[in-house]
Amino acid sequence: MFITFEGIDGGGKSTHMKATAAFLRARGVDVLVAREPGGTEIGEQIRTVLLDHKNKSMTPSAELLLFSASRAQLVNEVIRPHLAKGGVVLLDRFYDSTFAYQGYGHGLDLATLRIITEFATGGLTPDLTLFLDLSPQVALNRRYAASLFGEEFNRLDAVHAEFRQRVVEGYRALMQAEPHRFVRIDAEQPLPTVQASVIACIAQALQLEIES
Ligand code: TYD
Repeated sequence: MFITFEGIDGGGKSTHMKATAAFLRARGVDVLVAREPGGTEIGEQIRTVLLDHKNKSMTPSAELLLFSASRAQLVNEVIRPHLAKGGVVLLDRFYDSTFAYQGYGHGLDLATLRIITEFATGGLTPDLTLFLDLSPQVALNRRYAASLFGEEFNRLDAVHAEFRQRVVEGYRALMQAEPHRFVRIDAEQPLPTVQASVIACIAQALQLEIES
């Protein structure tokens, strides 16, 4: 089963993914955790270029192609092989991020994004996508607070508030278009509450898979 986590930065994706992986591993599930951009040696090199403050002049289309290049490598090198042996993949961001950020956020043509995404993934789609939904203001406050305690605050964190708002609205539109794939999690709730919802949702999904 292929499960992706989506949402703007500050929603706690990586924390919840770690807890979910631990929960599944304790139950003997063969879990692979990865992130985008990155997740492979080549993808991590691409990630460094994407997040570097030096690259402020990067155009949205160059960004799109780099994200897609990282994705193509990850799908073929890591995700497909793990799914083929019956494992569970938990992925921090996938193509919904491209539609939300490069599409709704930067205004790139959605039909073009679909073609490039299809090419990069070979048509692979998640079985389940958890959308950690929270307002851009709450998200920004959390990211900034974390940065005071040593967490990175990178080039892509520094983009302006209206952009984040468009991204959140983009995610909501994507969710409405595919209600069966998405589950919305209210990420403004306290961390333990969000964590419990995430784990409940994934436990239920795997149970369904076992039964079918
Ligand atoms: P990262 O620091 O990994 O953010 P997070 O920990 O919240 O996942 O940086 C990833 C950034 O890349 C994030 O701001 C979203 C952005 N992004 C895109 O714009 N398009 C994409 O296709 C992907 C995968 C990520």
